[in-house]
Amino acid sequence: MKSILEGRQGLACEVNKVAEVAGYLWQKGWAERNGGNITINVTEFADDEIRRMPPLGEPKPIGAVLPHLSGGYFFCKGTQKRMRDLARRPMENGSIIRICEDCASYVIIADQPVVPTSEVASHLTVHNTLIAEGACKKATVHTHPIELVAMSHAKKFLEKDVLTNLLWSMIPETKAFCPRGLGIVPYKMPSSVELADATLEELKDYDVVMWEKHGVFAVGTDVMDAFDQVDVLTKAAQIYMSARCMGFEPDGMSDAQMRELTEAFHLPK
Ligand code: 13P
Ligand code: ZN
Repeated sequence: MKSILEGRQGLACEVNKVAEVAGYLWQKGWAERNGGNITINVTEFADDEIRRMPPLGEPKPIGAVLPHLSGGYFFCKGTQKRMRDLARRPMENGSIIRICEDCASYVIIADQPVVPTSEVASHLTVHNTLIAEGACKKATVHTHPIELVAMSHAKKFLEKDVLTNLLWSMIPETKAFCPRGLGIVPYKMPSSVELADATLEELKDYDVVMWEKHGVFAVGTDVMDAFDQVDVLTKAAQIYMSARCMGFEPDGMSDAQMRELTEAFHLPK
């Protein structure tokens, strides 16, 4: 059977980027078994033929009513699917969904009836707001980076902006490429609507959100952009932990150095 990607260069390019990032997540050790998920808004590639495609099964509830998603199309990693498999065969380990007119359910339209990630409520809740705000951000990534998750097991790092300031101070690029920092969502049940709502709330103020003792959630113009932000934060966490392993508490950049950087790069204060 013909893949939806055939003859659709733009769509294939975005899905191939998802496959590339899925490979990075696996290589980094952030994607044990089926850990993590990726969704991308592909509505711009939905031509008339795609819009006429019959659903592969019955509508399924999202768990939230998301008014800006009506008629939208999303590529989603499949639930229980492995990142390392998504990397090699994206359309067998993910699928494209169409949001139904009720804005509360979706149908799968291609290529195979692969059920979307169990975190679909968090991903689609965030996409709904991105669309409402006219943001050019099309990708959301949830992953389990070892060092950041480890740090979320210490209460002191969960206090407001403690981790953000610590990570920013480890290496100058961190604030330059993650200028609004890392928000914290206290532990919530994976896949829950409460987790989705809390994630949305933190993303108002932060670039990336930490799910306590679970993972992170990032948003980007495309999947590479979302990945880069998590990668930059994780690098800073690794520097902190390397220093601790060598037996000392790292000094971090000074307040004066942080101020100088903030001004030079025109970053938010
Ligand atoms: P899925 O396999 O449903 O995407 O779940 C993985 C995960 O990381 C849940 O938080
Ligand atoms: Zn997870």
